[in-house]
Amino acid sequence: MRILVTGGAGFIGSNLVDRLLADGHEVTAVDDLSGGDRANLTAAARSPRFALHEMDIRDPALIGLAASVEPEVICHLAAQVSVRKSVADPVHDARINVEGTASVLTAARHGGTRKVVFASSVAVYGRPAVIPVPAGAATDPRSPYAASKLGAELYLATFKALYGIDYTTLVLSNVYGPRQSPDGEAGVVAIFTDALLNGTPTVLYGDGTQTRDYIFVDDVVEGFARACGDAGGGGRFNLGTGVETTDRALHSLVAEAAGAPDDPGHAEARLGDLPAMAVDPAPAAEALGWRPRTDLATGLKATADWARERLAAL
Ligand SMILES: NC(=O)c1ccc[n+]([C@@H]2O[C@H](COP(=O)([O-])OP(=O)(O)OC[C@H]3O[C@@H](n4cnc5c(N)ncnc54)[C@H](O)[C@@H]3O)[C@@H](O)[C@H]2O)c1
Repeated sequence: MRILVTGGAGFIGSNLVDRLLADGHEVTAVDDLSGGDRANLTAAARSPRFALHEMDIRDPALIGLAASVEPEVICHLAAQVSVRKSVADPVHDARINVEGTASVLTAARHGGTRKVVFASSVAVYGRPAVIPVPAGAATDPRSPYAASKLGAELYLATFKALYGIDYTTLVLSNVYGPRQSPDGEAGVVAIFTDALLNGTPTVLYGDGTQTRDYIFVDDVVEGFARACGDAGGGGRFNLGTGVETTDRALHSLVAEAAGAPDDPGHAEARLGDLPAMAVDPAPAAEALGWRPRTDLATGLKATADWARERLAAL
C-alpha cells in the first residue's frame, strides 16, 4: 500500500513510518520539522520505499504531492501538540490542528485516498465522569488543543459525508517510548527518564496522586497499522490500557528502569492539570483486534535503554 504519514519525523510518526516500511508499504512522510527531527528517520531513509517531504501541512503544495503520490491511506499525526501552548496561542493551535486537517483532507481528496487515520487525544474528554472513559463518552474540551482535535474529528466526518473518504479516529492516551522528546511538557516519561539518567532533579506536581494511562508507542503504532485497513471505518477508538498509574508510582518505575534513586522533589499542583485519566480500549479490541501488549515496566525499560544510548552518542 502507498501510505502518507503527516508528522512522520515526530515521536509517534517516525515509529509508525518504521513499522509501515517493515510491513512492506511505500511510505511518504510530510513534516515541517517544527517539532520533529530528521534523525528519527535515519533508518527509514535507507529504504527505497521511503521519502520525506519537508513541508507544512497547510502548504497548498500538499495537494500536488498527494495527487502525484496517490496515497491509499493518510495517517494524520502532524499537529500542534502542546496543551499549554494552545492556551497561550489558541489561534496558532487552530491554524495547525483545524486548518491543517482541512488541508490534509483536501489533499486526500485530490490524491484519491481511501482512508484517513487520525491521531486524536484523550484531552477531548476533559474531566470525565467515568474512568476508564468509554469510547462513546461525552466530550468536554477544556483547552484549545482539545477543541482543535475535536474540530479536526468533525472535519473527518464531513469529508466522509461529502466525498466518501473513510476515516478512523484513534484517541491516544499518554504515549511514551523511544524518540519521545524530553523538551515538551507532556512527555513525563521522557522528562523523568532524561533527568534520572543525567542525575538532575525530578519534580512531582501536587501530591503525586494524579493518574494517567500510559501506552507504549509500539502498541499505538500497531493500532495505526490495523486502522489502515478497512476495519474501524467511520469509528473512533481509544488506544490506552484502561489502567491508571499515579505520578508517584510512575516515578518509582522510571527510576527502577533508569537504575537511579527514586527521590523526586515536590511542587505546587499546576493549574488546569486533570486529576485522573484512563480510557477503555475494549471497542478497539472488538473493531480492530487491537490490544495493549506492552506492560509498563517492559516499556519503560525499552525507553530507558534507548535514552541511555542516545545520551552516550551525544
Ligand atoms: N504523545 C502523546 O502522548 C499523544 C497523546 C495524544 C495525542 N497525540 C497526538 O499524536 C500526534 C503525534 O504526536 P507526537 O507525540 O508524536 O508529537 P511530535 O511533536 O513528536 O510529532 C508531531 C510532528 O508534527 C510535525 N508538525 C507540527 N506542525 C506541523 C505542520 N504545520 N506541518 C507539518 N508537520 C508539522 C512536527 O514537526 C512533529 O514532527 C499528534 O497529533 C498529537 O496531538 C499524542
